[in-house]
Amino acid sequence: MGAGAPPPDVKAQGKKILVCVSGGIAAFKVVVVVRSFAEMGADVRVVMTRSAQHFVGAQTFAALSGNPVSTEMFGSGADVPHVELARGADLTIVAPATANAVAKMALGIADDLFSAVLLTVRSPVLLAPAMHTEMWEHPATRGNIATLEKHGVTLVGPSEGALSSGDSGAGRMSEPDEIVRAGLRALGRAEDLAGVRVLVTAGGTQEPIDPVRFVGNRSSGRMGFAIAREAAARRAKVTVVAGATSAEPPSGVELVQVATADEMRAAVLERAPECDVIVKAAAVADFKPEEAVERKLKKASGPPEITLVPTPDILAELGSRPGLRKARSILIGFAAETEPDPGRLGLLAEEKRRSKGADVIVANDVGSSDSGFGAATNRAVIAGPDGVTDVGLVTKMALASALIERISQLLKERRKL
Ligand SMILES: Cc1cc2nc3c(=O)[nH]c(=O)nc-3n(C[C@H](O)[C@H](O)[C@H](O)COP(=O)(O)O)c2cc1C
Repeated sequence: MGAGAPPPDVKAQGKKILVCVSGGIAAFKVVVVVRSFAEMGADVRVVMTRSAQHFVGAQTFAALSGNPVSTEMFGSGADVPHVELARGADLTIVAPATANAVAKMALGIADDLFSAVLLTVRSPVLLAPAMHTEMWEHPATRGNIATLEKHGVTLVGPSEGALSSGDSGAGRMSEPDEIVRAGLRALGRAEDLAGVRVLVTAGGTQEPIDPVRFVGNRSSGRMGFAIAREAAARRAKVTVVAGATSAEPPSGVELVQVATADEMRAAVLERAPECDVIVKAAAVADFKPEEAVERKLKKASGPPEITLVPTPDILAELGSRPGLRKARSILIGFAAETEPDPGRLGLLAEEKRRSKGADVIVANDVGSSDSGFGAATNRAVIAGPDGVTDVGLVTKMALASALIERISQLLKERRKL
């Protein structure tokens, strides 16, 4: 199954789906999303901002969903519409999500029905941003999106392409079928990892040279944290063994802090026998100084000669000694490559999968500014026992979601054995 396809057993029938529409041109595409879910038998409720009604009439959404459209917080009745709408929702889709809507959601503002519903709702939330490239790339929006991802919101897109002004660039809303597929995945995934123990390593190790200096790398921990967040959202019991990181760690997971490759190895091996899934997303140093000197090296003593020795290869150890792990557990490794070509990246991933004895290898390109260490996005392929999938250039959260989807399928297959 490709990364974008929904699990075949997911049903939208009878599910309550909230579609929250804010004021962008792409609102016309959301008409198709509403119609698709209504045709699948879902109970679709549409909430619109005032601005959204400049783009598509409420009547259109009402006719296609078969339900009245909600636009106002206040009426003359005794009902509390934001609570009634939010309660019992199985899925919430925000599309198009304007820069303004994204900002309000990130800050928890609730000054209209749309934003109050989004602060009240407890279902999985899918966000399909749509805005001009300048708005999408603005540091304020970047920060708001990072906050929402931290809150567990799943991003769909945006993609690059033609924008309403005639420009082209990042910020184009995902196509309706992509949003529908993501919605189906979200409906099907809610609890699929309940009872599954997942260990994720994240960040970079720091191998001391002296008390203040170390051999390290640029890993931010963002990718590992995204995987942990996604697994926890699907109800897995997650432990993160983290080296040095600069990203915000996820909430609701056990966090074990380590510094060196040796410490990371000890922390992972201690927990491996209980884990159903081990994802080695950390950037572990390949080499460390043979010995760390006890006192700070003095500049006046001239450049030191540092002999490097290999660090333990934790992935290979776990892959080659099955006794270290739980029976039928799944081992996933990451390969950092400076290789943007997906075909060659796939070959490297498959080669590493075999040589390390891993079930799945995610190979990502760390050679460009939009992919790899510290970036919000990653260009990656996933190589597993059932072949190689090119995930393309996507957010780290979307890559995490594609990877966890693959892991969920593998777990299901192994349980059938
Ligand atoms: C023709 C037109 C198109 C617009 N398209 C977008 C858009 O795609 N994304 C966006 O963030 N804002 C867009 N805006 C600006 C928003 O409509 C504006 O920020 C508004 O306050 C958003 O309100 P809302 O988030 O409550 O719906 C557009 C405005 C106009 C006039």
